[in-house]
Amino acid sequence: MSFKPNASYDFSDAVVVITGAAAGIGRQVAEQFAAAGATLALIDRSESIADIASNLGEVHRGWIADISDPESVAATANRILSQFGRVDILVNNAGIGPLAPAEDFPLETWDKTMAVNLRGAFLVARAFAPDMLARGQGRIVNLASQAAVIGIEGHVAYCASKAGVIGMTNCMALEWGPRGVTVNAISPTVVETELGLTGWAGEKGERARAAIPTRRFARPAEIACAIMYVASREAAMVNGANLLIDGGYTII
Ligand SMILES: NC(=O)c1ccc[n+]([C@@H]2O[C@H](COP(=O)([O-])OP(=O)(O)OC[C@H]3O[C@@H](n4cnc5c(N)ncnc54)[C@H](O)[C@@H]3O)[C@@H](O)[C@H]2O)c1
Repeated sequence: MSFKPNASYDFSDAVVVITGAAAGIGRQVAEQFAAAGATLALIDRSESIADIASNLGEVHRGWIADISDPESVAATANRILSQFGRVDILVNNAGIGPLAPAEDFPLETWDKTMAVNLRGAFLVARAFAPDMLARGQGRIVNLASQAAVIGIEGHVAYCASKAGVIGMTNCMALEWGPRGVTVNAISPTVVETELGLTGWAGEKGERARAAIPTRRFARPAEIACAIMYVASREAAMVNGANLLIDGGYTII
């Protein structure tokens, strides 16, 4: 059975916002949504984002923004909404994962992790939800992590921020589901991106792979396919879910 990402979804009438789209999972999600016909509004703090968007096709646009900065998020959301007129799908993907033992974890690094992973996702969801709610339809997909439901050494701020993303997802799903906007979380194990492979290099990575029932890390395309499913019309009854894509790691 060969693996064909996004073989069956049609997003040709969808405007999709993806944060953190310059690298890793976000970039893969952008490529797959573009291949499925979507119009993309990509957000990243990296200056490469405009070129990444235009290389995917001339209808797409990239905006440089820091999702932890409320003014940057508000200004970018206004520009996206005036450029495209609406947003159908938001993939809240941008995130960081600085690691240190809990007893030494620098307070400013804790604050930065929360500001990007939790408050940033909240700010971006709130920036686009009013348009979705006014039209009575929308999909918000929040990248959480297996770290939301288990403890991982060195990940104290990351685990706390991603557990917060699940809590936020639950509340938004409850409040916005009745108004046509579904909100779900996707929780991968280690994914083969710069963020994932930096944190899990060498022997530590080998041990981690061996502890996963499927004996490997996830690939960005496997995460992108799950994101596209919960973002699809077919997933209208999936609301407030936390979809673990962890090769079975958290059942142990
Ligand atoms: N890779 C993994 O192992 C893994 C596992 C579980 C969950 N996740 C989550 O998936 C998401 C994507 O991870 P990834 O591995 O692709 O990361 P990555 O580091 O490869 O890419 C993250 C992207 O987000 C952007 N970004 C970071 N902070 C930003 C900010 N403040 N404003 C705007 N853009 C910002 C970066 O510039 C980069 O382009 C994250 O939320 C991460 O926590 C990743």
